[in-house]
Amino acid sequence: MSVNIEKTTGSAYLAFPEMISELEKEFLNRKICTKEQFEKRILYGELIYFPTLTMDKVPFWCKSAMYDLFIMKFDSITDAVHGLCDIQRNWSPAFFTHFRRGMLIQEKMPYVNLKIRSFPCTIPQSPIGMYTLLDEHTILASAKTTDFLPSGHIELEEDHENPPSRAYLKLQEALIRMPYLFPEHDIELPKNGTKCLDVGASPGGWTWVLRRFCCNITSVDRAELSPRLMADRYINFIKHDVFSLTPEDLGEFEWIFSDIICYPERLYEWVQMWRKSEKFSKMICTIKLQGEENWEIIERFAAIPNSRVLHLNYNKHEFTFFHINK
Ligand SMILES: C[S@@+](CC[C@H](N)C(=O)[O-])C[C@H]1O[C@@H](n2cnc3c(N)ncnc32)[C@H](O)[C@@H]1O
Repeated sequence: MSVNIEKTTGSAYLAFPEMISELEKEFLNRKICTKEQFEKRILYGELIYFPTLTMDKVPFWCKSAMYDLFIMKFDSITDAVHGLCDIQRNWSPAFFTHFRRGMLIQEKMPYVNLKIRSFPCTIPQSPIGMYTLLDEHTILASAKTTDFLPSGHIELEEDHENPPSRAYLKLQEALIRMPYLFPEHDIELPKNGTKCLDVGASPGGWTWVLRRFCCNITSVDRAELSPRLMADRYINFIKHDVFSLTPEDLGEFEWIFSDIICYPERLYEWVQMWRKSEKFSKMICTIKLQGEENWEIIERFAAIPNSRVLHLNYNKHEFTFFHINK
């Protein structure tokens, strides 16, 4: 076998498709790197490699980051497979060149599910590395990455008939991720009878996901849900401005969900009102971005104890806030 592995400096960050510029701007605006480090960056497709940046913060716009990098020189496809697998079992690709050769390498590696998954599903907990081909005989790789999904990616089977909006995919991805974000909390997905509040619910994609778990759902919106959900006697629909309802008005819930379109500042105050009330256990909210990101408020969300802020595969110009209250 002819393989030569050398540790290399720096860190690399995979962007979401067509979102490289958001990720690049975040490095500068949040001062994650200096201007000098930024100018030295190298783009490998959607992967941004910073040769002189040690990872300190993971940018919110990053899909998965590589922070223990090495360069592997190899002769044959079999050499590449052995070289990577001698380090650990699971690897996922982030190719930008030599796709055919890359796929031949990936096909020979131990199986990692890169296919479409159907919701609900669990993801293996074992560490997953990421690699890319720089040329025919060179791989840039890291056994350590910041996401448990292969290259931070998940694609879910779609239902084109039943959900009243495509927003259901975003909630499905968030629910798949939640247990892995808080492993110490032993989180169970909503189930038969779980009390859920869904605000900004119309036309009802998220309510539809929860209804399939047979949850006990209160949905609030200024606009009605789809006719089928409006007719569902297990959904308690309240037509109201959500910001003029208090936890005392609405009651106690196991899960709170919000997909309201509003300024992040307004959502932050609403989240704090619920936290103070202690009338819920788990929360998933979309933080809708209005034009340029206000990093100060996004960082305030992320700093709430037992919280995470992520950009999901099914998020558009928005982030998802995950929180455990008790
Ligand atoms: C992105 S849509 C929600 C989509 C929904 N989650 C789904 O799965 O179909 C945002 C919703 O927030 C609602 N909304 C915005 N401001 C609101 C407010 N102050 N009170 C109640 N609903 C509000 C809008 O009426 C809209 O239906």
